[in-house]
Amino acid sequence: QSMLDFVQKLPKAELHVHLEGTLEPEHIFSLAQRNGIELEYKTPDEVIAAYDFHDLPSFLSIYYAAMDVLRTEEDFYELALHYFQRAAAQNVVYVEPFFDPQAHTSRGVAFETVINGIHRAQQEAAASLGVESNLILCFLRDMSAESAAEHLEMAIPHIDKLIGVGLDSDEKDNPPAKFAEVFAKARELGLKLTMHCDVNQKDILEHIEECLDLIKVDRIDHGINALEDDALCTEIARRGLGLTVCPVSNRFVVQNLTGDEIRKMLSKGMKATINSDDPAYFRAYMNENFMALVEDADFSKDEITTLTRNAFEVSWMSDSKKSAYL
Ligand code: ADE
Ligand code: ZN
Repeated sequence: QSMLDFVQKLPKAELHVHLEGTLEPEHIFSLAQRNGIELEYKTPDEVIAAYDFHDLPSFLSIYYAAMDVLRTEEDFYELALHYFQRAAAQNVVYVEPFFDPQAHTSRGVAFETVINGIHRAQQEAAASLGVESNLILCFLRDMSAESAAEHLEMAIPHIDKLIGVGLDSDEKDNPPAKFAEVFAKARELGLKLTMHCDVNQKDILEHIEECLDLIKVDRIDHGINALEDDALCTEIARRGLGLTVCPVSNRFVVQNLTGDEIRKMLSKGMKATINSDDPAYFRAYMNENFMALVEDADFSKDEITTLTRNAFEVSWMSDSKKSAYL
């Protein structure tokens, strides 16, 4: 059995994927046409050729610009459904996707339009593709804490459509502490908490410490730099906190597939998981992320099995569902 066969057949869970980061170039074109939007590119290949990411800001500016084609509930439904179809094709059976409502409300798209479209796709994916999912609302950390609080208010009528909240976008000078109050309120509402601690960001160890001591997160997105501090590693392992690592994304954003770092996490008993982050932009879904680790860092079937098991274990699915995978 080839490694690709093995990776393909393994039932997988994905815990770090931005739905807006699954917007494929072909879909940008069909949505632009339907919504009467003029694009500066003539073909999907031209769009891909313009993907030039070397750090987080250079990625984010392209990511936010492309979202302009997403306008109607149907657009968000299609976006999410197309992702779930790709997930199903790779035997990803469970997903906790992120979405960025502020990136849409700031353009005049209603919160309801976004969440209702995504929710309908989740129901369709569960019923006809066998892909179960629980949605995570991400706040944009380069916007104000007040804006985050307003969006948490907007989410209250839809609270049953959410499992948790996250924090993404530009991390520089936007520490977890900025959002302590909003996250405390989210916890009171019964939501799980996670935050990006993106690789090699300014003040990253302080950000990870704030996540643990102040916010008391239930998971950490990326979190690679914790390896620089033994006490942080010990605490993350002791709490059984999941770390959602995104190898191909890291290769683009910090020029490092992070294979050695993932191995170190496993050896320290930290629950690392493998994820795609923004697969349409980094041109790699789950299988391609695992295969990059196989081809460039010689990951074994045992290591891949452990990483996949970790993902089910640190997921926020109900314990009764979880037991079917562990
Ligand atoms: N939003 C979408 N993808 C992101 C990433 N990799 N880091 C921070 N914010 C994001
Ligand atoms: Zn991310």
